[in-house]
Amino acid sequence: MSASPTYPVPEGFAEQAHIDAAAYEALYQRSIAEPEAFWAEQADAFLTWDTRWDKVREFDFHKGSARWFAGGKLNVAYNCIDRHLARRGDQVAIIWEGDEPTDDRSITYRELHDAVCRLANVLRERGVKKGDRVCIYMPMIPEAAYAMLACARIGAVHSVVFGGFSPEALKDRILDCDCQVLITADEGVRGGKTIPLKHNADRALAACPDLHTCVVVKRTGGAVEWQEGRDVWYGEAVAAAAADCAPESMDAEDPLFILYTSGSTGKPKGVLHTTGGYLLQTAMTHKYVFDYHDGDIYWCTADVGWVTGHSYIVYGPLANGAITLMFEGVPTYPTASRCWDVVDKHGVQIFYTAPTAIRALMGAGDEPVTGTSRQSLKLLGTVGEPINPEAWEWYYRVVGDSRCPIVDTWWQTETGGHMLTPLPGATALKPGSATLPFFGVEPVLLDADGAEIEGPGSGNLAIKASWPSQIRTVYGDHQRLVDTYFSAFPGYYFTGDGARRDEDGYYWITGRVDDVLNVSGHRMGTAEVESALVLHEKVAEAAVVGYPHDIKGQGIYCYVTLMSGETPSDELKQELVGMCVREIGPIAKPDIIQWAPGLPKTRSGKIMRRILRKVAANELENLGDTSTLADPSVVDQLIDSRANR
Ligand code: WTA
Repeated sequence: MSASPTYPVPEGFAEQAHIDAAAYEALYQRSIAEPEAFWAEQADAFLTWDTRWDKVREFDFHKGSARWFAGGKLNVAYNCIDRHLARRGDQVAIIWEGDEPTDDRSITYRELHDAVCRLANVLRERGVKKGDRVCIYMPMIPEAAYAMLACARIGAVHSVVFGGFSPEALKDRILDCDCQVLITADEGVRGGKTIPLKHNADRALAACPDLHTCVVVKRTGGAVEWQEGRDVWYGEAVAAAAADCAPESMDAEDPLFILYTSGSTGKPKGVLHTTGGYLLQTAMTHKYVFDYHDGDIYWCTADVGWVTGHSYIVYGPLANGAITLMFEGVPTYPTASRCWDVVDKHGVQIFYTAPTAIRALMGAGDEPVTGTSRQSLKLLGTVGEPINPEAWEWYYRVVGDSRCPIVDTWWQTETGGHMLTPLPGATALKPGSATLPFFGVEPVLLDADGAEIEGPGSGNLAIKASWPSQIRTVYGDHQRLVDTYFSAFPGYYFTGDGARRDEDGYYWITGRVDDVLNVSGHRMGTAEVESALVLHEKVAEAAVVGYPHDIKGQGIYCYVTLMSGETPSDELKQELVGMCVREIGPIAKPDIIQWAPGLPKTRSGKIMRRILRKVAANELENLGDTSTLADPSVVDQLIDSRANR
């Protein structure tokens, strides 16, 4: 692998960049050697505080505790909007590009202020107070950002639920953190299709008796059911509300939001982020990783339902007074040129997307790309899963005309912001590597016994010391935080990823080492899909693993054992697929269901997933030691029964 090509910082890029190689080296050293001084300077430079903090950082990785800027006070909405008004009230804050190419809008900082204040007042009138939880289940429209910022303004804690999740999944998330208000839309629109958000919400809310207010944005005007008293039209409510709303001064450690994410066991957990440290790291990474300069038009294609949308569509960019583009549609609608058409239409300089989208577009050939100009582009980025070098090279050569650096950013819902990433004016790139740590981040590779690996090598990726935007707790279950992230390797934050470090100190993420799938950049627990499958009365047992998939990165492979006497059929397969979609959402649609007469188990009854993964990936030569299985013949049956899929 040492033969992997290296792409130096392009000629002229370092000179105009915020950070060049020498600055990266010096600042990184300082961030590790003198973290308190370093972060105090950054907190002063990037954020506006109502009250200065008493203590920059305190943490104890044995207890999973971290506090940043304790005693400091600030408001996130103030930092993302109000403080920009004097200088750039009339500058565009959000460019919205609708699903149809003819549909777009621009919202200035002043208009953003107006919209956010009004919605914040609506929430206050409906009784929402500091610390209350508000659920947001929205399509990609500016009102989604207004909703997040309105919560932040009054100190309410938002929990955004991806609009592709099912009513069942929405219900679980509303109940878990006891949301009393939901903000949604009549329907979403994506790729020419509508998504019945209000209808889904109604089904979820039937099981949420404490939820008293449902604010509904009219996106399409499609027919919706209405519950008087509970349901409120957004348009009417904000028109009647006052256009000014004093921001609540929040403690740096007050919660900002909860975002549910999948782990290897059980139901998704509510990752909780707080105010000061989160905003600092997202603002700082947005500026340095994307080398953002005033006036640049920046486009992150993520959905606000995921952490990337939180940190790099809304909070990081707006904290920097940036112009952030929000896209309602999909990269292939109406044609495979859509992304590049949007780049040309709005003059986008910075484009940030997921490898799965790059692979899908690459599959459509070069023509849809080369038929567009893309002259405005100066930087490309990727996030969410490892990018294979072929896709990287195509992105670099065809999309970026071999002119734009690519920042491959490794991070997680739990890390809040970028952790391993190139800085485009400082870092020579290697296709497929997330390269080096961001300021203040101390990555280590641990062997199976928890010992740190020095120099080049492979191991479990862990982080040695707290960073500002670190997860603070799992909502309502701090022990789960400790068990999940701080127990496997005491004293470290364990990421769940494996990685390799090369002779230049560059990190190469090899993927999850736990039972978490990454399907098209979406995180999903195998246990969640298994629970959905076994809900079917004809299913005795199910085991789910990931397998390599050309476009999605990983596909969902399900082994299903039926109750005795039941016969497999295509119809039953369809029912099981429907079960997963109903329980989780379309993103959990199994790619392959294999009827398995039995599952490989140890004598103590534990399913040996290693074997299931190999069979799913067709790697039959090297199944490893099967002698500890209770019944080794199960493996042959599994291999034979691959025909039944
Ligand atoms: C994976 C998304 C390789 C990784 C921001 C991580 C990546 C999980 C990269 C987090 C990358 C994210 N290279 N793998 N650049 N970025 N991952 O919480 O396995 O949805 O643990 O956060 O995605 O997914 P999450």
